[in-house]
Amino acid sequence: MALLFVSDDDDPVAWGRALWRLDPALDYRVWPEVGATGDIEAALVWRPPAGILAGLPNLALIQSLGAGIDHIFSDPDLPASVPVARLVDAELTRQMVEYVALAVLSRHRRIDAFRSFQRDAEWRVLRPVPVAESRVGVLGLGQIGAAVARALVGFGLEVSGWSRTGKHIAGVESFHGPKGLVPLLARSDILVCLLPLTPRTGGLLDARRLAALPPGAYVINAARGEMVVEEDLLAAIDAGAVSGAWLDVFRTEPLPADHRFWSHPAITMTPHVAGLTVPETAAAQVIENLERVRRGEPPRNRVDLAAGY
Ligand code: NAP
Ligand code: GLV
Repeated sequence: MALLFVSDDDDPVAWGRALWRLDPALDYRVWPEVGATGDIEAALVWRPPAGILAGLPNLALIQSLGAGIDHIFSDPDLPASVPVARLVDAELTRQMVEYVALAVLSRHRRIDAFRSFQRDAEWRVLRPVPVAESRVGVLGLGQIGAAVARALVGFGLEVSGWSRTGKHIAGVESFHGPKGLVPLLARSDILVCLLPLTPRTGGLLDARRLAALPPGAYVINAARGEMVVEEDLLAAIDAGAVSGAWLDVFRTEPLPADHRFWSHPAITMTPHVAGLTVPETAAAQVIENLERVRRGEPPRNRVDLAAGY
């Protein structure tokens, strides 16, 4: 039986090396060189082309190459009975914490202003934005959001968070459920989105929700582009209601060359690089999940289909 790697974004050679180090006998195949489709018991995937998983009759595990699984559930032919597992990896979480801290602290320490002073060779002192005006709200307090919230508390910032179910994280004010969203937004000078993309979170940050933020709030999205209504964000920035945004993810990726985000002075962009899976650290859970499904056990970090993440 074999494991099929399906991704145009990840390195199949590095993954093969990392997997074989743990399981030298693994029959590792790289799509589209599938061989006999009946041999494939597990698929390790990122944005798999629609329909290919349905063509694997003995598939027992769909393992995401990332923390998110929306790229799998967008396949209308996804075989419903095969368990889907997401990746939970300390190195991925570490990168996400680092990335969000960079974005939050850049805003708090007014890096955009200093960049523009530098362009004009202007020596000008600005104090950091006061902590009381740098209150951070984290949407999503899961593996990544909770780690981010803890790290920001460590910088002495005021942090609150929003999740589906209530949380107890030291130093973090917790809001949950639909009723908790507006109160969270209302105290978020810096809003960080770390939610999974589900039918409930798609389009969450629209004009109405952005208007619930304090005047001049800053928006950081390191989750999925679909969570933010891009035109509404641009309109809020152009109107001065939102001071700017730091975006790693976009509704369409790669972002089209004529998109306004590319040249907007209040927007900092990166090309979906906030957290990049490292095969060397993540391979162990792939092998463990393969062994678990072979024993008839559910994989670790199995996606809850009812919740959608
Ligand atoms: P996770 O552990 O599953 O956490 C998800 C969090 O979102 C949980 O706190 C969950 O609440 C909350 N949530 C889900 N639906 C909600 C809703 N309708 N209302 C309120 N809260 C809701 O996921 P994770 O590992 O932290 O990853 C989060 C996301 O980050 C991924 O799905 C992915 O899209 C994104 N990501 C992006 C990058 C990048 O490079 N840009 C890298 C890695 C991950 P409960 O705790 O109550 O369940
Ligand atoms: C990256 O976007 C991930 O979901 O891991």
